[in-house]
Amino acid sequence: MNNFDLHNPTHILFGKGRIADLDAQIPAQAKVLLLYGGGSAERTGVLGQVRSALGNRTVVEFGGIEPNPRFATAIKAVDVIAEHGITFLLAVGGGSVIDATKFIAAAAKYDGDAWEILTSMGSVVKSAMPFGTVLTLPATGSEMNPGSVITHAEKGAKLPFMTAHCYPVFSILDPELTYTLPPRQIANGVADAFVHIIEQYLTYPVAASVQDGFAETLLRTLIELGPKALETPDDYDIRANLMWTATLALNGLIGAGVPQDWASHMIGHEITALNDTDHARTLAVVLPALMQDQRGPKREKLLQYAANVWNIREGDDDTRIDAAIDATRNFFHAMGIDTRLGDYGLGAPDIDLLVAALESHGMTALGENQAITPDTARRILNAAL
Ligand code: NZQ
Ligand code: ZN
Repeated sequence: MNNFDLHNPTHILFGKGRIADLDAQIPAQAKVLLLYGGGSAERTGVLGQVRSALGNRTVVEFGGIEPNPRFATAIKAVDVIAEHGITFLLAVGGGSVIDATKFIAAAAKYDGDAWEILTSMGSVVKSAMPFGTVLTLPATGSEMNPGSVITHAEKGAKLPFMTAHCYPVFSILDPELTYTLPPRQIANGVADAFVHIIEQYLTYPVAASVQDGFAETLLRTLIELGPKALETPDDYDIRANLMWTATLALNGLIGAGVPQDWASHMIGHEITALNDTDHARTLAVVLPALMQDQRGPKREKLLQYAANVWNIREGDDDTRIDAAIDATRNFFHAMGIDTRLGDYGLGAPDIDLLVAALESHGMTALGENQAITPDTARRILNAAL
């Protein structure tokens, strides 16, 4: 097992009715900026619950944060913070609202050009405003991690940043808030969490039995419960397990002390930057092709994955690896997610654009061995056509 540091300060409040506990989490004198997305939180009544839980604190609202949140929108919120003397941020929504809030929290305290937060991948951030979250879409793990991904539409860039200053102070995880999700977003959440686990698991063995065992349990949980959530969307126990799985998939626990890949994510981000395809769907396109392409370096872990996640134990090594890759693709299909570039309106000419974008963003040595060069990415994307 590799050496690691693990310090996750986010306080999780999990379960039914937990929005009522907001009052105890935010300082009574705080001036709160309430951030949300395009209207779902209003429609579903979540915002109403949050407003009443905030009592008579001063609250300013900032709605309209887009899926794949935009740099320009976030900068507007930074101006609102200065204008109203805001002291605490509260994100209500999915990964996009939470990611935007992280960026806003950092940008509000940053003296230079906020774009540098992204080009430095967060290393220039020395402090951030405190913020909490009310999660409405289990998927990204953003509710308990220090990462964020921001899109700059004019620059055609979707870039991640990470800083220890951007852990939420608290996150409220009420599975009942997820009942209103449309099937497309239920599926996206399951697929995104699935690939987060894979990015930290499907690399090469380092004798990390605990991390591997946790990862395999989380994967099996998604495989079992993901399709059931589509069939019986108001089953509390299914939603609760999916919500907690998505958080554990990317809160540092399973990634501590193990090599990590993240090539599917970095290639996927370029697809979203190109045509706004849902994040999770880009992963479902890239991952099966990447598994096939990287079956040599990932051989031992692919065999472990086949046995422990899919119970594939018959046949020679290559047969078992083929079956595991097929099972992965079929799982995305069972969630109603297509797995080919062509399904999202992209063809061979777009691959040049995607590879050029990877190069211009410095994504030229991806994966656990830094071996996924632009040429490798091109091969993977061609296999995903
Ligand atoms: O905008 P509103 O109206 O709120 O609607 C949203 C949005 O249209 C809707 N929604 C959310 N909760 C709902 C709901 N609709 C009905 N009922 C509810 N309870 O769902 C739509 C998608 O929301 P979004 O927040 O965009 O989805 P998700 O949570 O999948 O977040 C995706 C973003 O997170 C980034 C992705 O790149 C993408 O930009 N990621 C962030 C990560 C992180 N911070 O660690 C890691 C991930 O790999 C990912 O890259
Ligand atoms: Zn993701």
